Amino acid sequence: MDSTQSAEYPLDPFPQYERMRAMAPVFQDSQSGSWHVFRYEDVQRVLSEHATFSSRMGGDNPSGTGQLFAASLITTDPPRHRQLRSLVTQAFTPKAVDALAPRIAGLTNELLDGIAAGGSADLIRDLAYPLPVIVISELLGIPAEDRERFKHWSDVIVSQTRTAPAGETQDTTTSEMVEYFLALIDRRRSRPGTDLISSLLSAEIGGQRLTVPELLGFCSLLLVAGNETTTNLIGNAVLCLAESPGTLGRLLEEPGLLPQALEEVLRFRSPVQSMYRVAVAETVLSGQRVPAGAPIVAWIGSANRDGQQFPAAAEFDIDRSPNRHLAFGHGIHFCLGAPLARLEARIALEALLTRLPGLSLAPGAELERMESSIVYGLKELPVTWQR
Ligand code: HEM
Repeated sequence: MDSTQSAEYPLDPFPQYERMRAMAPVFQDSQSGSWHVFRYEDVQRVLSEHATFSSRMGGDNPSGTGQLFAASLITTDPPRHRQLRSLVTQAFTPKAVDALAPRIAGLTNELLDGIAAGGSADLIRDLAYPLPVIVISELLGIPAEDRERFKHWSDVIVSQTRTAPAGETQDTTTSEMVEYFLALIDRRRSRPGTDLISSLLSAEIGGQRLTVPELLGFCSLLLVAGNETTTNLIGNAVLCLAESPGTLGRLLEEPGLLPQALEEVLRFRSPVQSMYRVAVAETVLSGQRVPAGAPIVAWIGSANRDGQQFPAAAEFDIDRSPNRHLAFGHGIHFCLGAPLARLEARIALEALLTRLPGLSLAPGAELERMESSIVYGLKELPVTWQR
């Protein structure tokens, strides 16, 4: 199998991370001024010590996409963060999410019905890409006919090239999406349903309703955070398993190992490679002084390959335990959607294993990574199986 390596977004960025961990674990990029952090211990601190490392994005006057997320969970510090998060935790507990399993399995099977007889497919296009967007749009109560538009906005916003036409700017997309959500919020206000937007509309914090920017922040965050990431977890899982001899067969015999195998995929090819923070006070990371006000990039993808934390870190090992990866973050911002992402990926992988026997990467397939340093996923995933 050939793999196309883009110099900027290589399929294998991990040797580069390894060099940074050894030689410049806390490194300031002189062009952007950002500080890059590569070791597990430091990344974990940056993600979880919220009093020192703030999640606020774009300062006091964010613009464009920054504005959209300015009032959302992921860019808010305590105490507001705790209040906002408490409004949505109920919708995403493992128990609440488990109730979605039959619907997710039904959708997965419908998508596989469309390809099973063919013997070959692009699993990103045909399964990993549509599944999460349908699930999250159903949760938010987005009408089925608007789903394609919805997915498209999410793609543009995460600056991907999958479906976004060249030249389309994030700002145009942001305003289209804001208009759409404002209209939907209005409709739900006059006729509430059982969806998440309706319950957010009636939620109160200390007798106060959410502001419109906060409602928009929730909708946009769930849209963006829940789609590309889960698509990439499913795609990366197929890639890791197909590359690792014997694992697909073993999982077919012992499906109970699948959740643990998915944790290893999350560590080995983390769908989110980096997260941002701003140092609010001067601090020291790996012996390096970082000034107050410093923008920080915490490299989750590197932390998850740190040999100080993971023995034989460069090996994909579905028996790895414990596996304290940071793929969903750490601390108060720990991914709200983790139970949903894990469930979708488990259902998708179970269905692939049983319905597409002998699944393997298409011979000669050229794998290319999405053009992003933040997310890690494949543009296409051509596979074959026995019909
Ligand atoms: C936060 C990764 C799927 C919703 C995060 C964070 C990471 C992450 C690393 C922490 C951000 C930080 O510390 O600043 C992932 C990965 C996913 C995934 C790898 C899939 C494999 C989802 C899904 C949803 C979701 C399916 C929702 C439906 C959120 C939200 C936050 C978050 C709302 C912000 C939580 C907070 O700030 O309190 N995610 N995510 N994610 N994620 Fe996910």
